Amino acid sequence: MAHKLVARIGSATGTTISPDLWGIFLEDLNDALDGGLNAEQVRNGDFEFSRLDQHGWGPLTGWQVDVPDDRTRLWVRTQEPLHPNNPTYLRLLGPVTLRNEGWDGVGVRAGASHRIGFAARVVDGAGSVRVTIRDRSDVLAEATVEIAGDTWSWYSADLQARADGRGVLNVELPEGMGVDLDVVSMRPVGPDGEALTFRPDLLAALADLRPSFVRFPGGCLAHGTGLENIYHWKDTVGPRHTRRHTFNPWGYHQSMSIGYLEYFSLCEQLGATPVPVVAAGVCCQNTPGGPRPIPDEEMPSYIADVLDLIEFANGSVASPWGAIRAQLGHPEPYGLRYLGLGNEDQITDDFRDRYTRIDEAVRAAHPEVTVIGTVGPSPSGSDFEAGWRYARERDITLVDEHFYCSPRWFHQNTDRYADYPRSGPGVYVGEYAAHGRQVRSALAEAALMIAMERDSDVVRLASYAPLLARNGHSQWVPDLIYFDAERVVPSASYDVQRLFSTERGVEVHAVDVEGADPAPVPTLDPGTVRVSAPTATVCFRDIEVDGVARPEQTASGEDAVELATVGATRSAVTFTAERTSGTDGFVVELGATGPGAFLALHVGAWQNKSTMLVRHGDGQHDNAGSPEPWVGVTTGVPVEVRLEVDWPRTRVWVDGRLRHDVAHDERPERRVVAGASSRAAVDGAVEHVVRLVNATAAARETRVELPAGAGDAAAADIAHDIADVTASGTVLAGAGPDDGGPFEASPMTAVTCELTGKGGVELTLPPWSFAVLVIRRRAPRG
Ligand code: AHR
Repeated sequence: MAHKLVARIGSATGTTISPDLWGIFLEDLNDALDGGLNAEQVRNGDFEFSRLDQHGWGPLTGWQVDVPDDRTRLWVRTQEPLHPNNPTYLRLLGPVTLRNEGWDGVGVRAGASHRIGFAARVVDGAGSVRVTIRDRSDVLAEATVEIAGDTWSWYSADLQARADGRGVLNVELPEGMGVDLDVVSMRPVGPDGEALTFRPDLLAALADLRPSFVRFPGGCLAHGTGLENIYHWKDTVGPRHTRRHTFNPWGYHQSMSIGYLEYFSLCEQLGATPVPVVAAGVCCQNTPGGPRPIPDEEMPSYIADVLDLIEFANGSVASPWGAIRAQLGHPEPYGLRYLGLGNEDQITDDFRDRYTRIDEAVRAAHPEVTVIGTVGPSPSGSDFEAGWRYARERDITLVDEHFYCSPRWFHQNTDRYADYPRSGPGVYVGEYAAHGRQVRSALAEAALMIAMERDSDVVRLASYAPLLARNGHSQWVPDLIYFDAERVVPSASYDVQRLFSTERGVEVHAVDVEGADPAPVPTLDPGTVRVSAPTATVCFRDIEVDGVARPEQTASGEDAVELATVGATRSAVTFTAERTSGTDGFVVELGATGPGAFLALHVGAWQNKSTMLVRHGDGQHDNAGSPEPWVGVTTGVPVEVRLEVDWPRTRVWVDGRLRHDVAHDERPERRVVAGASSRAAVDGAVEHVVRLVNATAAARETRVELPAGAGDAAAADIAHDIADVTASGTVLAGAGPDDGGPFEASPMTAVTCELTGKGGVELTLPPWSFAVLVIRRRAPRG
């Protein structure tokens, strides 16, 4: 066993932990909303899916149609729709049955009610529609709904399920009856008799995180793929059939059923403050064609919309948008305090112009709202630096930093915010996650979260990303909470997040840690230099490795072709590459094969639009510097590459131009980390919240010592050797660093503990563990 770890809690540092520090970020990605938190069970009930969502999708996606004969009994129509924002509907001529499987089946519970609803008008005959939930031939629930009248009307019925099951919703129209049908919905009925808005088990998982805030709707989703896809909040309030659907930039459909009204209501239910994000007048920088700005002439109305959002949230019922909020059932204001402006945007002239105009308008009209700026997609690099320069120029109060990095990066950055200036913009860490989804990813996040808390005078808010992912429907891994039709599967990171937000301190205390030696980071491992061309065939010639000429090679596909062996820390590789067929570019790897440390240079990364240097090690990877925009690889056009490693410096020239000049981060990893804060307990006594991460393979005998001070043991206690300190806490431990993975339940076991001691407490921190203790002195004996 390693030598003893001693964490001596010192006096308060003067930093108060932001009460808003731990929140969540809800974006409709991975079917997080439609098919997820949205309790709606009918997929494409509005018949608004289209090929903009996904190639091959359309109004009947998600539906099957059964007709008993060859007659055309179904027409997709848009004339005289229910609402212009919901233009597509079906005209049906019975006998016909429509079937919908929802997302992986429509689930019902025995005895529970499920409310079916739709809009319809009769175009021929008269009669009733039969609605059933069937599991093959078994009818799990059924209802009959009589339809009358030739104008659009709303119909609903409650289906009582006879048995538990997952089935298919059937809407059966009898012979001779013709109807127009739209907005088909089925939702479980809650205890108050209302159809549920949110799926209860997912809502409970969010509530258990006790988030201080909810960021919404994105992410990429907020500024959209293209100007026409920018998220406009006004399209998402009001009755469902009036909401304007759009394609989801993550490759599916957005019904907007969970729009701004539901978002504010969710915040209220969670006791969390809203942090809405609006586009900074520019669409997503990853849009084909680049980050286009909203046309100048449309900016006044866009700015008015942003101000209206704040009025919708905060305005009195006498204000126009406050009145609309009241009409929608919520006269009380929502108390909006933050507004995110932009997401990971490139700091272009257009961005500056649009951001400035919106920011000035909000600052002038709503000083009660803090506008949060944006500093690119990575924790360093050109966008990050440009974002920070701009933030200081504009005196932005908070900026939104994002980092998706390896566990190593997290352990190397536990001092990240200690060196930040204490004046100027503060930080909202709006998106972060350690690569992988294993125990070590979660522990790496815990180590950096301790640092965020310690430097909470800089870091005022933080939210893990992404939050939710439906098994089989995800576009991004890792995520905090996985789910399928039946189950909610929180990750190890979820366990960590929950321990931070459920036990919060107020005043940061210094902690002097003895026995927590940092671990050196590996350099490159010796190995080979090799090339591959995952989607092309590329010929490599004029190859020279460390001054020695090598024979010509051709790479085609994922399998790498070896050019030469190389040492660990110094090498120089040059070659000319020419694509002979296929798309995109090629990859050069240098160093270990397998889990060891190596570098990868991607020439033609990001859809052949950039070059990118990536550092791999321990099965994980990080970008080394930022991807550099580039014209891309073209068939028949040679590309000259030179890669020079003189560790930690790495330089890359493409066609004679220096494109990457990186000094790799050699700071050691802090894998054993402690943090402490204090708060007043309900009885007024001072208690300390202590967090300890042990991201190593060794169990650590640990002593946590309280600072001397008021409440110290009385002389009599000391004389009688009586324990004067008590602690209770939770220790999360994983069996091994690589346990767990996406879509698997958290591999961490949580053990609660009650401890007593003199001047402090002692415990054994298991290998790969995270502990949170609440420690206090017991009142001295009289
Ligand atoms: O969290 C997933 C995505 O990552 C967000 O939408 C975007 O902001 C970031 O690139």
